[in-house]
Amino acid sequence: MKLVVGNQKTYLNRQDVVNFINKTREGHCENVIICASFPYIDLYIEDSNYIIGAQNVSVKGNGASTGEISAEQLNSLGVSYSIVAHSERRSDNKETSEMFVDKINNLVKYDIRPIFCIGENLDQREANTTKDIVGRQIIEVFDKLNKEDLEKIVVAYEPVWAIGTGKVPTNDEIEDMTNYIKDLIQDKYGARVLVLYGGSVNEKNIDELNQIETVDGYLIGGASTKPDEFLYIMSKCEK
Ligand code: PGA
Repeated sequence: MKLVVGNQKTYLNRQDVVNFINKTREGHCENVIICASFPYIDLYIEDSNYIIGAQNVSVKGNGASTGEISAEQLNSLGVSYSIVAHSERRSDNKETSEMFVDKINNLVKYDIRPIFCIGENLDQREANTTKDIVGRQIIEVFDKLNKEDLEKIVVAYEPVWAIGTGKVPTNDEIEDMTNYIKDLIQDKYGARVLVLYGGSVNEKNIDELNQIETVDGYLIGGASTKPDEFLYIMSKCEK
């Protein structure tokens, strides 16, 4: 069984979400997390069997943070996972490793498991620095966390050049990176973490990706907003 995490970003309006929930009702949801837009979290919690995640969390706790959503608020809704450090937040919102440390600490305090995203961009890949970059993204954050929290983190390896582009690394490359990430975290911190792959996962490549044993699941953007396609991917990951 692979973990399936849908990152619906801001693709859907309210009616789209209602349709998505109705059309995917027959799916097996035990291993499926939907990271909904904040306004729809309640809808998912009340009317679906998905495990519910958020796409982001405030660096601060409850208080004077206009427009933010705190970990405590997410917890009070019934959210049990949250994405942290997605490449879109790294680039669009200039979020830094210091911020990711604060976000992860806030989340684990409220029993929410962080889905921590890492990955190289195309220039970094072409310069052959993928492992340096990914290693640094891990170390800058993991060095500052409490040891007992590390295994609560789910790592998502998402090459930036693969997100929303239809381009996917080869199975060998994904296997090599997931091994690298797991070994680094095991050797340096003595922790075992789940590692997801993300970036253009879809109904056409899911069978091939499922052959990679070191991958514990997927972080899925675009394809998690299309009910039929998502149901198909869910069915391929439930065993
Ligand atoms: P994608 O997005 O599946 O549309 O490539 C993945 C992500 O951004 O998490």
